Amino acid sequence: GRVAVVMGGTSAEREISLRSGRAVLKGLQNAGVDAFAIDLGAEGANPVAQLLDSEFDRAFLILHGRGGEDGTIQGVLEMMGKPYTGSGVAASALGMDKLRCKQLWQGAGLPTPLFSVLDAETDLDRVEARLGYPVMVKPVHEGSSIGMSKVNNRAELESAYAAASRYDSSVIAEQWVNGPEFTIAVLNDQALPVIRLETPHDFYDFEAKYSAADTHYHFDTRLTSAQAEALQLLALQAFNTVGCRGWGRIDAMMDANGSFQLLEVNTAPGMTDHSLVPMAAGEAGISFEQLVVGILSLSSA
Ligand code: DAL
Ligand code: MG
Repeated sequence: GRVAVVMGGTSAEREISLRSGRAVLKGLQNAGVDAFAIDLGAEGANPVAQLLDSEFDRAFLILHGRGGEDGTIQGVLEMMGKPYTGSGVAASALGMDKLRCKQLWQGAGLPTPLFSVLDAETDLDRVEARLGYPVMVKPVHEGSSIGMSKVNNRAELESAYAAASRYDSSVIAEQWVNGPEFTIAVLNDQALPVIRLETPHDFYDFEAKYSAADTHYHFDTRLTSAQAEALQLLALQAFNTVGCRGWGRIDAMMDANGSFQLLEVNTAPGMTDHSLVPMAAGEAGISFEQLVVGILSLSSA
């Protein structure tokens, strides 16, 4: 059947989604799939009308951020009875919500850094006493590190809160984890090879993700094979606890005690030429074409 590669959207990650979407479209076409693009929300178009007006049998969802990775479009497709790739409505909504993901993981006994919710009334003395410095300040419903800052003192905490609030009415402060950052792609209930990230930036920020030449990605994780397996298992547990389906990517860090801490899950992770899921798949011997066809084959209604 005909496959709509749904990309773009209206979130702050629109440009990244277009890059991911073009790569996915090309990959599917190279594999002989009858695929076309829907640029959702382009030039103020109504996303629901765009879906209703297009002829397709299933959707490859490669929208990042709110209005696409968060369960809303998944809900529209459910109502249309069209199969789509990736997680369903509830898991997509939870995956877009860093706060509720952390609460779910805590409830399941999975490790995630200590955090506090920040709002205009928050007693920052208590936040400092609880988390210490540095802390990461994060909008709850963003991706690609948009609106995030690492802060070292009260003045920075206040301005980071103001910056994050421009993106989201919900903001958290998370205790800084000092270790290296790792990412684990999940495909069809399997964890792909672990990638260790290395950036000279303060953290793995937007620029480090998409433009910096000095960001390095290593399959030499410097982990023992037992540690790497434990991290893969943790990633699968984190993925399953949120109820994710098909594919996704879990980000985690190692703390000073050598324990892994879960940062977040991405239910429609980047598929650009800088992106991590295609890199991990390649390491596992899965070509980009095989990857996109594999993700597509896991789509369900
Ligand atoms: N949110 C970006 C696209 C990622 O997780 O790769
Ligand atoms: Mg994310």
